[in-house]
Amino acid sequence: MAAPVVKEQELELRIESLAFGGNGVARLEGFVLFVRRGLPGDLVRARVTKVKRSHAEAETVEVLEPGPSRVEAPCPYFGACGGCRFQDLAYEVQCEAKAAQVHDALVRIAGIAEPPLEPIVPADEIYGYRNKLEYSFANTPDGPALGFHRAGRWDEVLPVERCLLTTELGNGIRAAATEWAREEVLEAYDQKTHRGYLRHLVVREGRNTGQALVVLVTSTTEPFDPEFFIRSLTKFPEVRSIYWAVNDGEGETTNVPSKLIWGEEAIEEELCGLRFRIRPNAFLQTNTGMAERLYALAGKFAGLTGEETVWDLYCGTGTIGLSLARHARSIWGIEISEESVACALENAERNSAGNIAFFAGNVGQVVRDLLERSGPPDVVVVDPPRAGLAGKALRRLAEIGAPRIVYVSCNPTTLAGDFKLLHEQAGYELIRARPLDMFPHTPHVEAVALLEP
Ligand SMILES: C[S@@+](CC[C@H](N)C(=O)[O-])C[C@H]1O[C@@H](n2cnc3c(N)ncnc32)[C@H](O)[C@@H]1O
Repeated sequence: MAAPVVKEQELELRIESLAFGGNGVARLEGFVLFVRRGLPGDLVRARVTKVKRSHAEAETVEVLEPGPSRVEAPCPYFGACGGCRFQDLAYEVQCEAKAAQVHDALVRIAGIAEPPLEPIVPADEIYGYRNKLEYSFANTPDGPALGFHRAGRWDEVLPVERCLLTTELGNGIRAAATEWAREEVLEAYDQKTHRGYLRHLVVREGRNTGQALVVLVTSTTEPFDPEFFIRSLTKFPEVRSIYWAVNDGEGETTNVPSKLIWGEEAIEEELCGLRFRIRPNAFLQTNTGMAERLYALAGKFAGLTGEETVWDLYCGTGTIGLSLARHARSIWGIEISEESVACALENAERNSAGNIAFFAGNVGQVVRDLLERSGPPDVVVVDPPRAGLAGKALRRLAEIGAPRIVYVSCNPTTLAGDFKLLHEQAGYELIRARPLDMFPHTPHVEAVALLEP
């Protein structure tokens, strides 16, 4: 059957629901359209942007009748900024949509008719919750400015004066860096021409300690006057570390080696009553309050009695393992980033945890060695990146057959796919699962699942 729409066509559509990733779903003669910026219940005028055999994509041009869950978005950059997608959707409905996505993935991909899904844990704070933000520099008529990529644009930066996802301190640091760049008359890097000097500013905060770390990323090793930059930032007593990093490649990454130019090597964050060191590139969950909830849930699912050998795979800076250490016999962490492992080792020492060991390595390649060292694990906690468990890691986990796997997931699709394979290869069953909203106004959803053979 030919698609009933053509590219650039404008049409009126009633949005039925939200799809995974956040687009509205509408139907025309049974044909599905994914509508950007369309919310459930809305009647919109939309322009078709892409037509495929099975579905089409469209962009909302005008909301003709707002749906019942539409609210006023408080941020003046909403819609233009690529950061938040759902400030205009009532928060309870955001949570419902996220819970439904986890449910659907478990039904559709994992093939579980009635998933044992517990109610979603909503976020404690729906604004000001991020402990890390990465800004890009842009050239404006007033000089360099800092902001975020425009929605849907990799090559354009939208300058912002206030971001509602960070704190007053985070906004103040960004404004001070902007002022410094203007006074120094420095040029922002341009993604299209690959010319210009200033690329990014990364601000990390220990939300429970009040400490901040700043990284300036430039495109070349040509030096700037550090004195003035440092003076501009240290007017905030919270700023404890200032780093400089150079990214001379075309890729938009801030994850590059950085050099300490002022202050302490690391700042600290407090999570679950423990202290954690934060260096520029070490992984730390970006919502401190909800990370505590997430780890508490993982701990509950792990059901430790003090006698267990526990693996913490994809352990980052060791936060999950350390939060479980008091309740287990021994904890063994694996992480690919050496910088994160260095932090994990420091964190173990800082928190006087004597029953925990961390190793650098790729989970798929090193779990057999780990098995030799630690003996069979009673509980395996996995917290992989969005892509989920890679084939080899999954086969090894199926082979090892731990009595309990606690799967911490930031992507329900890969959680469901990985569960299906663990079910087929090693007979694991999904005992319980609970979604959490760590990132209000974005399509991301976290979930914790308990698997037993
Ligand atoms: C979602 S984070 C979880 C970190 C940690 N559990 C936490 O809560 O802070 C995933 C981590 O997996 C690491 N990672 C990615 N691929 C890996 C692999 N193949 N083997 C080991 N670690 C990996 C990343 O560096 C990152 O620190």
